[in-house]
Amino acid sequence: MDLVRIGVLGLGTVGGGTVNVLNRNAEEITRRIGCTLKVTHASVKDLSRNRICDTAGIELTTDSFAIVNHKDVDVVVELIGGDTLAKELVITAINNGKHVVTANKALIALHGTEIFALAQEKGVMVLFEAAVAGGIPIIKAIREGLSANKIEWLAGIINGTGNFILTEMRDKGRDFADVLTEAQALGYAEADPTFDVEGIDAGHKLTILAAIAFGIPLQFEQLYHEGITQISQQDVQYAEELGYRIKHLGIARKTDQGIELRVHPALIPEKRLLANVDGVLNAVVVQGDAVGPTLYYGPGAGAEPTASAVVADIIDVVRNINADPQHLIPYLSFQTPALSADPILPINQIVVPYYLRITVADNLGVLADLTNILSSQGINIEALIQKEPYTEGTEVDVIIITSKALEEKLDHSIAQIENLDTVIGTVKRIRVETLG
Ligand code: NDP
Ligand code: HSE
Repeated sequence: MDLVRIGVLGLGTVGGGTVNVLNRNAEEITRRIGCTLKVTHASVKDLSRNRICDTAGIELTTDSFAIVNHKDVDVVVELIGGDTLAKELVITAINNGKHVVTANKALIALHGTEIFALAQEKGVMVLFEAAVAGGIPIIKAIREGLSANKIEWLAGIINGTGNFILTEMRDKGRDFADVLTEAQALGYAEADPTFDVEGIDAGHKLTILAAIAFGIPLQFEQLYHEGITQISQQDVQYAEELGYRIKHLGIARKTDQGIELRVHPALIPEKRLLANVDGVLNAVVVQGDAVGPTLYYGPGAGAEPTASAVVADIIDVVRNINADPQHLIPYLSFQTPALSADPILPINQIVVPYYLRITVADNLGVLADLTNILSSQGINIEALIQKEPYTEGTEVDVIIITSKALEEKLDHSIAQIENLDTVIGTVKRIRVETLG
């Protein structure tokens, strides 16, 4: 094959970046694969919109089905997003015997099982490196580079928008909504940005990573996710005073009881590398039994960083185009019949330390009440700060870092604390991850 013809569905941030990288590095890519890659077709929603890439020589259409049904398109690159139209297009492309590359984590997390089964039946490839952590080749690293290991746990900052917001809030004291608007303008955010800030996007990514790491089915519906919208400037500052940074983490951990699969804000000791991953950068720590901890770091979103992963997948497709499909690396790293049925643990069964911020009336004996409630559940206090009252004799914030505790026990303690007459409002709880 001298020429591989590519149909790109969607020419927005990632689609535009992909065309730019393919054009700019065409010669280098041909030297690597021994043939020419050419974007012959692309679809968009609005033909009149300005593009970040040169569209000369590309047949543009608003009809994506014309591309997935086109006899002269060899590889379909799905960069529209969402899991409805994108799914229909990908399924049609596979049924037409076309290889597919996608950056769409929602599509893979929610429908990957069905898509991979069909691809296997039709003998085509579906690659999705850009779906997790943008430009970081984390899927390849786990699926291939770490395949000798039993993966024990992985933890990562896997949403660039969320990390950008938390970093700007901490470093510049900026307002949440204002930073989110900037992340959208920079092309980092999802079409629906609540996916970023509520942990849904990170949840899609963690679902994929956990499947590849532990050999379990994709099961987004079992994942626990909590967003960053409730993180206040106060929490960011108190965390710093205690030697921690607040990050939005995705954590998957294999335990004797089952698998933890959770996305939520977490306090991380500031000396940990993950605590120092800022802005739109992502990072994932993977703990393997043989290799120990390994860290993967780089841009988690944006046009060309994401295009880097998309184009690498196109190159992989071309390199394997004549391979026997039986000998390709399994999509989820493990052979499908060997996937395990390990249960996903409910969030109240995890055991971690906690940060608690409790606003109390500045009365005698309040601290004793708090510590009594916690100790009655066997929860020790590792650190405690009592702040100055907002105005004299009124309210004070008490910040506690607990020892490791079963979340169910902490839930009981919090319910009791919130019932105290001296406690004002609700208790703020953020999990602590020591990543040791
Ligand atoms: P954009 O919104 O920037 O681009 C989407 C593109 O799809 C646009 O060109 C749009 O056309 C086109 N489109 C939308 N609906 C249709 C339709 N019905 N028919 C034809 N074309 C359509 O999204 P992104 O590039 O940011 O994201 C694309 C995918 O990549 C998503 O799955 C996202 O999750 C994923 N991703 C994004 C990253 C990022 O940094 N942005 C990083 C990693 C993954 P038009 O331009 O005319 O509106
Ligand atoms: N919206 C996503 C993020 C894009 O901010 O991480 C990259 O997957």
